[in-house]
Amino acid sequence: MPNAVVMTGYGPPEVLKWAQVPLTEPGQGQIRIKVKAAGISPTDLALRAGYLKDAIPLPPNAVLGYEAAGAVDAVGSGVTGTSIGDAVSALLFSIGGYAEYAIASIWTRKPDTVSWIDAAALPTSAEAAIGVLRQLDVKSGETLLLFGGGGSVGIIATQLAVAQGIKVISAVGEHDEALARELGATPVRYGAGVADRVRALGAVDAVFDAAGQGVLADATALAGGPGRVITLSDPAAADFGVTLSQPTPDRAPGALDETIALLADGRLRLRAHQTTPMQQAAEAHRQLESGNVHERIILTLS
Ligand SMILES: NC(=O)c1ccc[n+]([C@@H]2O[C@H](COP(=O)([O-])OP(=O)(O)OC[C@H]3O[C@@H](n4cnc5c(N)ncnc54)[C@H](OP(=O)(O)O)[C@@H]3O)[C@@H](O)[C@H]2O)c1
Repeated sequence: MPNAVVMTGYGPPEVLKWAQVPLTEPGQGQIRIKVKAAGISPTDLALRAGYLKDAIPLPPNAVLGYEAAGAVDAVGSGVTGTSIGDAVSALLFSIGGYAEYAIASIWTRKPDTVSWIDAAALPTSAEAAIGVLRQLDVKSGETLLLFGGGGSVGIIATQLAVAQGIKVISAVGEHDEALARELGATPVRYGAGVADRVRALGAVDAVFDAAGQGVLADATALAGGPGRVITLSDPAAADFGVTLSQPTPDRAPGALDETIALLADGRLRLRAHQTTPMQQAAEAHRQLESGNVHERIILTLS
């Protein structure tokens, strides 16, 4: 039997155990991947801790991981254009990436010039960035205020928006100011007084909250109401009349194809990341929760 990082219950990182799991066969329209690398996202930490157990209840022995890269190992019925051995990057809406084998319904071919690590770091952030930009329908010449512009989603959203001729004001911490500027945004420091710092730069047409939480009062004030404000994760969204954008297969179809092509051409940068062997997923979660690591962590299998 293959191994996976099994969540033995809700709780601290120690609930994650490297253990044997059954080998699942791909269903209709699915592929099975022999995983080389899997991304850890902030949502994984929230799921494991149990913060989302009402919204996203998990079965016993769930395997976390919304994104992975690897070689196709089995192909389900109805799958065309993908063969065993193909290198792919996959978005796993049904999770399961922290494993030797993962089942995927959404994937794209990995070009040789894209590393396994980058291919595993791309999917959820790219899908969310493209999805929210499409939902906000920001046009060339408009001004987008982005909270969390130094994060995994925010970095991609900045580059895509700038490439579309959108003026991006990026609310970031001190350590991400230079990065935001390099990507073509105008940085403002987040935290107390951010609304005044943004107003000093001019009017805002739309707001993308990729920060997590705590920015919606400023966001709705600056955008003149909630109509063109979207958050990825603030649980207070409904209180502000703001749309909480959820990951669904119809939010950003084609997002993986579009962004992996940009990565392959060197036209897209991802948030800095480091790697950890997948067997040490619990330690990786601990590191991320400690706040001592400013980079993402990608789990690897040799
Ligand atoms: N709904 C969805 O489909 C979906 C998909 C992907 C992600 N998400 C969620 O979206 C959020 C962002 O994801 P991510 O992967 O980009 O996370 P991330 O890489 O951790 O980035 C979050 C960024 O927000 C910054 N930040 C923190 N407080 C802020 C504030 N008050 N104002 C402005 N920026 C602030 C952080 O800066 P510091 O480093 O200075 O703390 C960090 O750069 C997470 O909550 C994640 O769970 C949701």
